[in-house]
Amino acid sequence: MVTSNASRAAAAPTDRSTLQTALDRVPRLRFGHLPTALEFCPRLTAALGGPDIFVKRDDCTGIAFGGNKVRQHEFLFAAAKAAGADTVVLGAATQSNWCRQASAIAARLGMAASLVLVHGVKGPVLQGNLLLDRVLGAEVTIVPGTDLEVLPQHLAAKAAELKAKGRKPFVFGWADLRTQSTAALGYVNAALELDAQLTALGKQADAIYLAGFDVTPAGLLWGIRALGMPTQMVTLNPLQVSGDRHLQIAAIAGGIDERLGIRVGIEPDQVITIDDYIGPAYGIMTDAGREAILLAGRTEGLILDPVYTSKAMAGLIDHIRKGTLKKGQTVVFIHTGGTPALFAYADDMKLDLADGGIAKA
Ligand SMILES: Cc1ncc(COP(=O)(O)O)c(C=O)c1O
Repeated sequence: MVTSNASRAAAAPTDRSTLQTALDRVPRLRFGHLPTALEFCPRLTAALGGPDIFVKRDDCTGIAFGGNKVRQHEFLFAAAKAAGADTVVLGAATQSNWCRQASAIAARLGMAASLVLVHGVKGPVLQGNLLLDRVLGAEVTIVPGTDLEVLPQHLAAKAAELKAKGRKPFVFGWADLRTQSTAALGYVNAALELDAQLTALGKQADAIYLAGFDVTPAGLLWGIRALGMPTQMVTLNPLQVSGDRHLQIAAIAGGIDERLGIRVGIEPDQVITIDDYIGPAYGIMTDAGREAILLAGRTEGLILDPVYTSKAMAGLIDHIRKGTLKKGQTVVFIHTGGTPALFAYADDMKLDLADGGIAKA
C-alpha cells in the first residue's frame, strides 16, 4: 500500500533560484539536452480512465539515445575531468543504459570508457546497449553470473590494471555513496525543471511515478521536498537487493544535504519504493511490462524499455486500475529512458506479423 512521503519536518521550502544557485556551484559539464519536455498524454489518459498523465521525457536527454544517466554523468564526468582522468571505469549488466551513456560521453570528451559488465539475463549478445557500447568504442570486460554486487571488486581490479599500464582511471563506483550523491545532483536539477514546468502550466502534480534503484529517486525526492512541492513520489524498483532500499535512498539524499549546504533531511520512512512489479527477476520482461510497452506505444507513440520503464508504467497502470490514483488528479511519469535495450528483447515482445502485431500469450 502506498503511504505518504510528505515532509514531516515542515522545513521552510527553498525557492528555485536559491536552489539553482547552490547547484550551479557544483562542477558540472553541460551536455544534456535540457530541460526535457513535459508532455501531456491524452490518449493514454483516456485509455486508463484515471488521472491526467504527463510524461517527463528524460528518454530524450540527448547523447546516444538519452536517458536518466545523462543528467547524472554531467556531474560525474566533471569530477573525473577535475581529477585528471583519461579513462572512466564503471560497470553494470550487459544491457546497461548507464554504461552506454557513459561510453558516449567519454567519446565526446576524448576519454576512454572501460566497462565491466556482468553477463546478466541477456549475456554478451551484440544488440541494444552492448552493441552501442562497442560502436562508441568502449572497452568491455564481461564477468559471469547475474549478481551485480560483485562489481566493486571487479572495478577496483580493472582500475589497478589500467594504472599499471600508465592510464589515469577514475572509477564511478557501484553502490558507492560519494559517487551516488554526486550523480543524484542530476535529479535535483530535474526537480527544478519539473517545478518550473508545472508552475508554467498552472498545475501541481499529485504524484510522480518513476523507475529507480536509488540515485534517481534520491535526487528527485530531495529536490521535490527542498522545493516544497506537494507531490507524492513513488519509485518502482526494478531489482531486488540485499540491503534496505529506504536507508540507501535516504543516505544518498543526506549526501546531497552536505553537497549543497541545504538541509532537507530525508528520512528512510519518507521513501516510497515498491518491489511489486519486478516479476521473476531484474532484467526479465513481465507480462504487465509487455502490456505497458504496447499501450504506451499504441496510444502515444511512446517507447518504453523492457527492464525499467515498462515495469514502472505497469505499476502506474495497476495503481490507476485499483483506484489509488483517480480521475481529476495529475500524475507525472518520469521516462528514465533505456529504450535501446528493447532491441535486445525483441523475442520477449512475442510479436509477429501474422496476428497483426498482437502480443501472444
Ligand atoms: C532506464 C533506467 N531507468 C531507471 C534506472 C534507475 O536509475 P538509478 O540507478 O539512478 O535509480 C536506470 C538505471 O540503470 C535506467 O537505466
